[in-house]
Amino acid sequence: MKNSTGTFCFAARVLHWLMAVMIVAMLFIGVGMVASVSARHTWLVSIHKPLGIAILILVVVRLAVRLRNPPPPLPDDLPLLQKFAAHASHWVLYALMIAMPLVGWAMLSAGGYPVMLGESLRLPSIVPASPVAFAVLRHLHTWLALALFFTFIAHMAAALYHGLIRRDGVLDSMAGSKHANM
Ligand code: HEM
Ligand code: HEM
Repeated sequence: MKNSTGTFCFAARVLHWLMAVMIVAMLFIGVGMVASVSARHTWLVSIHKPLGIAILILVVVRLAVRLRNPPPPLPDDLPLLQKFAAHASHWVLYALMIAMPLVGWAMLSAGGYPVMLGESLRLPSIVPASPVAFAVLRHLHTWLALALFFTFIAHMAAALYHGLIRRDGVLDSMAGSKHANM
């Protein structure tokens, strides 16, 4: 099934922008969390965990939407290397959107901490308690967050290059301002 509308479907666009805001917020909340102590730390952690699990749920929905609605093709005149970089970076972003929350959840499970979503909803542990696993996963969470941050910056720069310099409709295909069959 090919997409000849020239734009991402409505659900894909809503999910893209909603998740972009949530993920960027998570990166800042994460950094703010490790830089704070006392009440502010507790408050930020209580936002970080449910927001991270919401991202995990939304990325599953997003992958299902993508399977049913293929994205529009990139412009024909885009150099092959740039097409490859675009596709590869999108899959890296998908992989990180899945890995980040799972590693966060697994890290708390390994540390023996309860993963609470609000006052009374407790998620099950997904790995057995182990100080070694906790240490490895804690570092992995930081390194993956850095990878997500840099991939996001490259992705945003590429989107702006398409929108402001090439003006080839790629940014509009996600912004929703492109008309069908243009
Ligand atoms: C897209 C999802 C996520 C992103 C982008 C994200 C990002 C971050 C970042 C940037 C940090 C700071 C890392 C550092 O400086 O070492 C962090 C720390 C942390 N994250 Fe996440 N995270 C996500 C999901 C989760 C989830 C789902 C959980 C748990 C259920 C979680 C639990 C934690 C914990 C416990 C810390 C350390 C807090 C501390 O040491 O004070 N994260 N996260
Ligand atoms: C953390 C934030 C973001 C994440 C995780 C993210 C993720 C993604 C992913 C995975 C795709 C591929 C969609 C698919 O093929 O199913 C995509 C496409 C796109 N994104 Fe983002 N995005 C983010 C932020 C942004 C921002 C800030 C902009 C604009 C300045 C942007 C502009 C675009 C555009 C124009 C496309 C379409 C590219 C194409 O057709 O190849 N994204 N994004």
